[in-house]
Amino acid sequence: MSHSNQKPDLEDSINVTEAHGRVVREAAACARENRIADNGIAPVSMWALVACGVVLLIAGGILGSGGELFGYTATFRPGYLRAPAPGAAETGPMPKPALAAYGAKGAKIFAAKCSGCHGSDARGNGSTYPSLAGSAWVNGETERFAMIILNGLQGPVSDGKTYGVMPPQGIGMAPEDIAGIMTYMRNNFGNTKGDVITAEMAKAAIEISAARKKAGNSVTSEELTADHVKALPGAVLDPTILLDPVTLAPAKAP
Ligand code: HEC
Repeated sequence: MSHSNQKPDLEDSINVTEAHGRVVREAAACARENRIADNGIAPVSMWALVACGVVLLIAGGILGSGGELFGYTATFRPGYLRAPAPGAAETGPMPKPALAAYGAKGAKIFAAKCSGCHGSDARGNGSTYPSLAGSAWVNGETERFAMIILNGLQGPVSDGKTYGVMPPQGIGMAPEDIAGIMTYMRNNFGNTKGDVITAEMAKAAIEISAARKKAGNSVTSEELTADHVKALPGAVLDPTILLDPVTLAPAKAP
């Protein structure tokens, strides 16, 4: 037949709709395949990466807990300190005069323990909290002042008025803190006693407080007047002597 090696008539032998559908399906299947980069490397599945991460984390945790892989001990030699630079002066906090060194401790105690009630200017509010600026009991005998801090106060205060009840404040305070707050109060807010209440005096105050007949109860103005109008025992400290501001011990001579 003269027709045999000619292309068949499209109209007769090809279902165009079916052929077109097949082309579209194959193109879609190709599109779903992972693309291969120009260099022939197929991208790694995200899940494979996550799985590796989990394995590494667990392995690192196990190895690291023995102080090995991620442990600091393997990286930093224990006890290794850089040698001081030659000729460098011995460093440390600068010594301060006793009044300032004790006062600095006291300023922190005041902010943490007293200012909430007595106000950041220590002037109270005239009704429920008395002023500590110019207070006769802050500026007067140190044993009386210490008993108020350590035990709290109930009843009339130094100006004869009753404001409320002050809870004890000494819990958790070291002798240095008690000495600091007393020194600070007597030398700030217009109070100018100029003396230093030492840690030694504060230790004595703790003992006196524990030996009170009514230990555990707030002090009252009667008890203060009857028993505690005294100076705390302990050596008087020159306010200008230089102290280590951290330990409050006399600073070493340079
Ligand atoms: C929870 C509130 C509160 C706190 C905290 C507090 N006080 Fe008081 N303080 C009072 C009250 C209230 C009075 C008056 C008590 C009264 O009327 O008997 C008072 C009275 C005093 C007085 C007697 C004043 C005078 O002139 O007679 C002194 C001194 C004093 N406080 C010192 C301190 C110091 C120092 C601190 C911090 C360590 C402190 N207070 C923390 C509430 C407080």
